[in-house]
Amino acid sequence: MDRYAVLGHPIKHSLSPVIHTAFARQTGEALEYEAIELPVTSFETRVWQMFRDGYRGFNITAPFKQDAHDFADDLTERAKRARAVNTLVKQADGRILGDTTDGEGLVFDLETLLNWRIADRNVLILGAGGAVRGVLETLLSRNPANLVLANRTLAKAEELTDDFPEISPSAFDELSGRFDLVINGTSAGLSGNLPPLPDGLFTPDTHCYDMIYSKNETAFNRWAREQGAGQCADGLGMLVGQAAVSFELWRGVRPDTVPVLEQLRAELA
Ligand code: ATR
Repeated sequence: MDRYAVLGHPIKHSLSPVIHTAFARQTGEALEYEAIELPVTSFETRVWQMFRDGYRGFNITAPFKQDAHDFADDLTERAKRARAVNTLVKQADGRILGDTTDGEGLVFDLETLLNWRIADRNVLILGAGGAVRGVLETLLSRNPANLVLANRTLAKAEELTDDFPEISPSAFDELSGRFDLVINGTSAGLSGNLPPLPDGLFTPDTHCYDMIYSKNETAFNRWAREQGAGQCADGLGMLVGQAAVSFELWRGVRPDTVPVLEQLRAELA
């Protein structure tokens, strides 16, 4: 059996083992997939050891995406620009390739599963941390009319323009106008908070996406709906989407995300 794992700290709530085990069953690929919690200070030595022990690839989650970027021998263009890696794969020549599949997971969910257009739309993304940095390249590649990036700390939004000059940075309280697509990439919801947005950004045509997911409607999506957003979705589809892209990098076959997403929704409920 080929071995893979997701590496993070903490890791015990990760759904990745369920997702990849379902993908393996669906595609007939013979692999084992575990969740492994690494001590925060020993990423490099532990990953080297595991590759030596025969692991073929890893998913990387917080707080190791930057470490994985620095660890990889080769990087895809999107991983270079994101300065973050969520997938490591041992190539035929033994070199380790780092990629970031989060943006493709997000765009796949938006465009294919939800049927929401990005091209020519006014897009607002909230947050300027690792989660947002990891999806910007792919989001911009879908040609939004404009991409406003708002963050609690304006300086961090402005810094992102070094790598992504196409974005328009903003503070929350400077936002105005109406947006077609609003993506929440802040970690505010993880501690039960909402990003402090002004009223009036949503219309019945606004699509609202929260990059976190939960069993019940997320706090951000509930608020957006109350503010008049027409349709809201959480980040479960993005999670399954990014996993499918990683799986394809490792195994050369793209699994069908739909039945796995349905399985997870049922299990969460
Ligand atoms: P992640 O890897 O999840 O992106 P991160 O790099 O720590 O985590 O970034 C967290 C993001 O959520 C940041 O944009 C942060 O805003 P600041 O840059 O101002 O810190 C944002 N965030 C966290 N808690 C928030 C809150 N209560 N309200 C608004 N934004 C919040």
